[in-house]
Amino acid sequence: MKHFLGIGAIDDIHSWIREARDLKKDPAAFYDLGKNKTLGLLFFNNSLRTRMSTQKAAFNLGLNVLVMNVGQDGWSLEFEDNVIMNGESAEHIKEAAGVLGQYCDLIGVRAFAGLEDKEQDEKDRILNALATYCGVPVINMEGTLGHPLQALADAITIAEHKIVERPKVVLSWAPHPRALPHAVPHSFIRMTHQIDADLVITHPEGYELDPRVTQNTAIEYDQEKALEGADFVYVKNWSSYTQYGKILSQDSNWMMTREKLSAAYFMHCLPLRRNVVASGEVLEGNRSLVMQQANNRTYAVQLVLKKLLGS
Ligand code: CP
Repeated sequence: MKHFLGIGAIDDIHSWIREARDLKKDPAAFYDLGKNKTLGLLFFNNSLRTRMSTQKAAFNLGLNVLVMNVGQDGWSLEFEDNVIMNGESAEHIKEAAGVLGQYCDLIGVRAFAGLEDKEQDEKDRILNALATYCGVPVINMEGTLGHPLQALADAITIAEHKIVERPKVVLSWAPHPRALPHAVPHSFIRMTHQIDADLVITHPEGYELDPRVTQNTAIEYDQEKALEGADFVYVKNWSSYTQYGKILSQDSNWMMTREKLSAAYFMHCLPLRRNVVASGEVLEGNRSLVMQQANNRTYAVQLVLKKLLGS
């Protein structure tokens, strides 16, 4: 594996889950692997879990870590080729990426979708430009198209809690006051296609996700019907994909409640707005897996770092 840019980098999800669970039992088992090596973490957007879990995983592997809030502290970057840089951008991504590769042996990057221009967002240009020009392995810490580290942590969490070989997993849209990207649901769907699970997606009409991702997946517009017999309910807001980045509904009837959840496990990547996306009692209830998901973020990224260091 040269880079970890998406779920496509996972060659065998079952063995990855096994390896991650082994790391969880003995996190310091490969402490010498990262000795005298440096991981750079570039944040163009906010983070709590990704930032902390990736640093923790790096420390477990003996890596040094450099963190930069590029969105706040870095020079504004130019991405176009053959451009006369007499505008706002102070540095071209080719130099910036090349320089970062001088200081780091691995680079993680978070750069969300802008949700204004679908064509631009589909290029995932910050992530891909870094992977092209920095000369070292790059890890996607949530790009415009996917959040594969979250999906891997979610796969580990499902494996740890499933009691039937092929659980029913429901991805349920929830309301939110702000327009959110599609990276988490898209990666979750791609990941769920690789594990042994029956996936149903439920959302109001107009919230259809990328058909290239949802192909061969059941979509049910009636949330109550979708939730029948669910083993895991993954709740997430996303903005409209077809009317790109728009909020079409804030219907609070889609919020997850204890009654709707019934006996299923509740999953969410966090952060979560209480009593908008899900009720407080769902979040704190004994079927909630949000802390386990957050904990597994460490072992998901530790496995990715271990594989990249080893290759
Ligand atoms: N789930 C997740 O990626 O959390 P952060 O945005 O806080 O990193």
